[in-house]
Amino acid sequence: MLDQLNEIEKAALDSLQSITDQAALDAWRIAHTGRSSPLMAVFSGFGKLSKEEKPVVGQAANRVKVALESALEEKSAAIKNAALAKSIAEEKLDVTLPGRAVKIGRLHPATQQLRSVLAILAEMGFQVYTSREVETDEMNFQMLNFPPDHPAREMQDSLYVETADRGENPILMRTHTSPGQIHAMREAAATNPQNPPPIRIVLPGMCFRNEQITARSEIQFNQVEGLAVGEGITFADLKGTLADFARRMFGQDARIRFRASYFPFTEPSAEMDAECFVCGGKGCGVCKNSGWLEILGCGMVHPNVLQNGGYDPKRYTGFAFGMGPERQLMLRNKINDIRYFWGNDVRFLEQF
Ligand code: DAH
Repeated sequence: MLDQLNEIEKAALDSLQSITDQAALDAWRIAHTGRSSPLMAVFSGFGKLSKEEKPVVGQAANRVKVALESALEEKSAAIKNAALAKSIAEEKLDVTLPGRAVKIGRLHPATQQLRSVLAILAEMGFQVYTSREVETDEMNFQMLNFPPDHPAREMQDSLYVETADRGENPILMRTHTSPGQIHAMREAAATNPQNPPPIRIVLPGMCFRNEQITARSEIQFNQVEGLAVGEGITFADLKGTLADFARRMFGQDARIRFRASYFPFTEPSAEMDAECFVCGGKGCGVCKNSGWLEILGCGMVHPNVLQNGGYDPKRYTGFAFGMGPERQLMLRNKINDIRYFWGNDVRFLEQF
């Protein structure tokens, strides 16, 4: 019996030697360690052995079983290593070459700037109100105090969508975010027409103008508009809010100044400059040696505009402002051509 076991072991190990692939190894495992293998026959014949033979044969059979199993494991590892070595040799895979970096997407620089402006204003209590990009002439201009032949329309050459049969009310792409003021006021006033609630909102979004595309002008750009309406709001509130905004945006030491200006929908109107953050006010190419950079337009909401929004101008006052995030980015990063923004050149975009 012990001789037989030794033969079983020898035959199995001999035939294992010549095996070089997984399929042959599987066949070997079934033939030599499987249920109908000679080794298993020894185990199943165990009952017929005498009391003295049982421990001796049992020990020997177990030893052979363990020996075959570990030989099988060794062979299996050897086959896997050989396959790997072969594929490395065949594919000439140089595992020492540096890997290719995976490019991670990011937000467009204009979106980043827009969001940081909104984050500051949100912290100051302004709620975001998103308005439509396609408007009627009535909303984009007339309700904002630009009658059909008003000369201020010249500043905002329009892209018309639909003119046929619409007389003085053609449909156009909004030229600024200001028409959102009317939508927002009307929506708020509708909730309580006798006592419209106070409003404190920011209106972000894309605007469109029929411009010759040059380094300084684009046909599309973002604006962020602000609007506060309530009882007893004064120009001091406007100045305080915008001065605070400037400090949060440009740093605690940011100096600002207001210059008188004109917009049809505000009275009085102003423009706010910030001290040039490139030269610190000394004068440089970016600020055209003035030391100041124009940041936004603003003013007290015109009584006609309040009226058009459903707010009684005898009782309510308000202020509004509008700024361009792309312009801020250009100033900040000395970008000298606005066309980079929508040119989709990753070499530009990757810098932000
Ligand atoms: N809508 C103006 C423009 O596009 C910007 C502006 C100026 C908005 C003054 C305002 C404001 O709300 O008060 O040029």
